[in-house]
Amino acid sequence: MKLKALFWIIVYLGVYSVSLLTDLKAAGVCKGIFWILGVALTLYALALAAVSGRTLKLYAHKEPKSGFVPDKFTNIGIYSCMRHPMHLGIGLLPLGISLIYGNVGAVLASGWALAAAFWFVLAVEEPELITNYGSEYIDYMSKTPPLNFNLRCLENGLYALKSKEPIQENSKVEVKGFEAKYYDRLMDIITLGWYRKFIKEAIGDIELFKGAKVADFGAGTGRNALLMHPYIGSKGEIVGYEIGKEMKEQFLQKTKYFKNIHLAEKSILEPLNEDERFDFVFISFVLHGFTPQNREKIIKNAYKILKRGGKFVILDYGSFDIDSASFIYRFGIKFMECPLAEQFINSDLEGILKEHGFGEFEQKLYLGGKIRLLSAKKV
Ligand SMILES: C[S@@+](CC[C@H](N)C(=O)[O-])C[C@H]1O[C@@H](n2cnc3c(N)ncnc32)[C@H](O)[C@@H]1O
Repeated sequence: MKLKALFWIIVYLGVYSVSLLTDLKAAGVCKGIFWILGVALTLYALALAAVSGRTLKLYAHKEPKSGFVPDKFTNIGIYSCMRHPMHLGIGLLPLGISLIYGNVGAVLASGWALAAAFWFVLAVEEPELITNYGSEYIDYMSKTPPLNFNLRCLENGLYALKSKEPIQENSKVEVKGFEAKYYDRLMDIITLGWYRKFIKEAIGDIELFKGAKVADFGAGTGRNALLMHPYIGSKGEIVGYEIGKEMKEQFLQKTKYFKNIHLAEKSILEPLNEDERFDFVFISFVLHGFTPQNREKIIKNAYKILKRGGKFVILDYGSFDIDSASFIYRFGIKFMECPLAEQFINSDLEGILKEHGFGEFEQKLYLGGKIRLLSAKKV
């Protein structure tokens, strides 16, 4: 291990010593182009090294925390699409830094670092890995390229670090602490103000009517209740079901001037007793955060408390192919969201609702189907 580290120190010093021999620097437009390329390449190289290092730490040890050197074969994450992401990162880093620095000599000399990375892989790493892991590694070599410059390889490697089991404990649906306290503001900031306009539009699309009684499951801060209020008027009623401490406080504060908006401090997972009381059950960005079993409990509750002909209105992720969606959606769902969200997007929600007595579905799609407002009637 120490010898390997020494090898890389010599290679890096070799590259940078060239910059001392020549002061030929990129100038004008070239300097700008070098800088942009350098930053992009440096970030890419660092990401490769970080993702592969973390992958090895998670998946390439027989015993967790059993030291730095891997002792178990892995083809998970970034290692499923290339055999040597770490060396690619280490090999590209001098080129990235030299481009930022703008020293032409160092840029040219960086080619030697890449060559050194290739030599190191062929002459040192591969023979060692074959000795350690035998036929398993030879089979892996036949299926997986040594290097892969496709950014999807790095991206999928990143998701493998995150992937947690889709169980209730890994859900983020019970928003707490800082995130709960500033929930509305964070939603507006993260979406650059888009969410504020969107939620108004979506609530307008529910087709609430004057005098309607609405149950708001997982009501949050009360923002949605306030947006619904003008549609139901003074004769209607809104009951927010909420269990989050910070959310309940904000709900009460926001809705304190409205006599027909109430808070029910009840979990939507527990059987509710208000049989056939509501015209609408609204649930916004909550259902995706539950396991299929818990979703069924919520659907049963909605059915029970709705009047016949009443509507269960679900505002949440639509049903779409995550892998072929653009990067921003893939990253949002696979990296930022809880693992249950992916399962929800791939589920047959209408089929499940049908099994529980709902029908006459209507839907409105937003963001090209990434979000939908699904209305299901209690028939
Ligand atoms: C992602 S937030 C959505 C809030 C709100 N519906 C909105 O659209 O802004 C999820 C909400 O569901 C609430 N929640 C989670 N589990 C719940 C449960 N078992 N019963 C009632 N509310 C719950 C959380 O406290 C949180 O306020």
